[in-house]
Amino acid sequence: MKKVKIALLGLGNVGRGVFTILQQNKDEIMKRSGYEIEVSKVLVRDVTKNRGVAVPEEVLTTDFEEILNDDSIKIVVEVMGGIDPAKEYMMRAMEAKKHIVTANKMLLATAGDEVFEKAEEMGIMFQYEASVAGGIPIINGINENLTANKINELFGIVNGTTNYILSKMELENLDFDEVLEEAKQKGYAEADPTSDIDGYDAQYKLAILASLAFGTKVKVNDVYREGITKIKPIDMKYASDFGMSIKLLAIAKDDDGKLELRVHPTMIPETHPLANVYDSFNAIFINGNAVGDLMFYGRGAGDLPTGSAVVSDIIAILRGNIDTDNNNPVIRNNLWEKKIKDINEVESRYYIRVTVDDKPGVLGQITTIFGANRVSLKSVIQKGRKNDENVEVTLVLITHKTKEYLIKDSIDKLYDLRTVKDVENIIRIEDFN
Ligand code: NAP
Ligand code: HSE
Repeated sequence: MKKVKIALLGLGNVGRGVFTILQQNKDEIMKRSGYEIEVSKVLVRDVTKNRGVAVPEEVLTTDFEEILNDDSIKIVVEVMGGIDPAKEYMMRAMEAKKHIVTANKMLLATAGDEVFEKAEEMGIMFQYEASVAGGIPIINGINENLTANKINELFGIVNGTTNYILSKMELENLDFDEVLEEAKQKGYAEADPTSDIDGYDAQYKLAILASLAFGTKVKVNDVYREGITKIKPIDMKYASDFGMSIKLLAIAKDDDGKLELRVHPTMIPETHPLANVYDSFNAIFINGNAVGDLMFYGRGAGDLPTGSAVVSDIIAILRGNIDTDNNNPVIRNNLWEKKIKDINEVESRYYIRVTVDDKPGVLGQITTIFGANRVSLKSVIQKGRKNDENVEVTLVLITHKTKEYLIKDSIDKLYDLRTVKDVENIIRIEDFN
C-alpha cells in the first residue's frame, strides 16, 4: 500500500470531522484511494486546547512554515476559515506544488479567481466540495454530472444554521436567540454567526453555485442579500395560514442571459419539496433543460457531514496522479459573460405586514397607494378588529406578481400616511412557476 502525508489547517468543527472520518473509515479510504493517509501536521492557534479527538501532541503546530517546508506533505486541507491568513497559506502551499482541499466559501466567493488561477498555473488539484451545502455533492454534481444541461434556475436552502433556526421557530414556536445558541453548540454556525443569520454565508455559496451553474463570473455583490433576523413568530403563523413555509432561499435564474441572483427569506408553498427541508438539512433544487427538475438533499453543516465532503475530495486527489501536473481544468466560470439583473427589476409576489391605526378609511388609503403604483393586491387580511378608535392592528397584504421597485415605491408612500405606524416585514413569495 502506498503512503501519503497530508496536513490540516484548522482542527475545529470541520477539522475534527475530517480527522475522525480518516480514522474511522481507514480501511474503506485505503481501498478506495489506493493510499494509506497519514495526517502528519495540523495547524491550530492553541495546541493546548481539548479538541475531542486523539491527535498526537507532536502533530499539532502553530507554525505554518513546518507544513510548507515539508516536501513529503502532498495535500493541504484548509479548514480554518476566513480570508487572512487562509488565502496566503493556500497560495504559498500551491506554489510549493501541494494539492488543496478547502471548505472555505468566503474565500472562494471573494477571491476564487486568484486561487483558481494559481491552481491552474501550478498544475495542482484543487477541490472544494465542502464549500457549499456541507455533505451534499452539489459542486461535483454541477461540474461533472450536469454538464449536458443548460441550467435554467436553481433554488437552494444552503445555510444549515438559519434552516435550523427557522425550523425550530416554525415547528416548536421557539425564540430566535435560544435557537441560535443551539445551532452554535451543534457546530453549524460560523465563527461569527452573523455571517449565517444575516445571509452572508448563503450569499457566498450562491455566488459559487451560480458561477458554476451558469459558467460565468459572479461577484459576491452581484447577489442581493437579506438575512432572517426580521422573521417573527407572527410571520410564521401567517405563512402557515396561507399554506406556506418560510425558508432562507438562495435563488439563481437565467432570464435570457440576464442573471437574477438573490438570497432572502422566502415564502414557499408547503407542497414544494423544499418546504419539507428542516433542521440543519440543506437542499438544492435545480432545473436543467435536459434533465428537468432535480433535488439534492442532505446535511448542510456539522463536523461529519462536512468532513465527508472534505475526505471525498482528498480521495479524489489521490485517485489522480499526485506527482504530475494536473490536466483537468480548475476554472469553470469563464465560459460565458452574463449580465446581472438589478433587484428592482425582479418580479415576485409579496407578503407585507403593517401595523396601522384601526380607523375607518385606513384600508382605502392603503389600497389606493398600491393601486396608483399598478400593484394588484390578491388579499388583505386584518385579524382581531376591536372596533375601538386609536387601536393599532396588524394588516397583512398579499400582492400579485409585481416588480420590486413598485413595491418599494408603494412602501415609501405608506410611511407618509399618519395611520400607518410601521411596515413590520416584507417577504417575497416564490411560486416556482
Ligand atoms: P472552527 O470550528 O472555528 O475551526 C477553525 C479552526 O481553525 C480552529 O481549529 C482554529 O484553531 C484554526 N484556526 C483559525 N485561524 C487560525 C490561524 N490564524 N492560525 C492557525 N489556526 C487557525 O471553524 P469550522 O466550523 O471548522 O469551519 C472551518 C471552515 O469550514 C470555514 O471556512 C467554514 O466556513 C467551513 N465550513 C464549515 C462548516 C460547518 O458545519 N462548521 C460546513 C461547511 C464549511 P484553534 O482551535 O486553535 O482556535
Ligand atoms: N455555517 C454554515 C451553515 C456551515 O450553517 O450552513 C456550513 O457551510
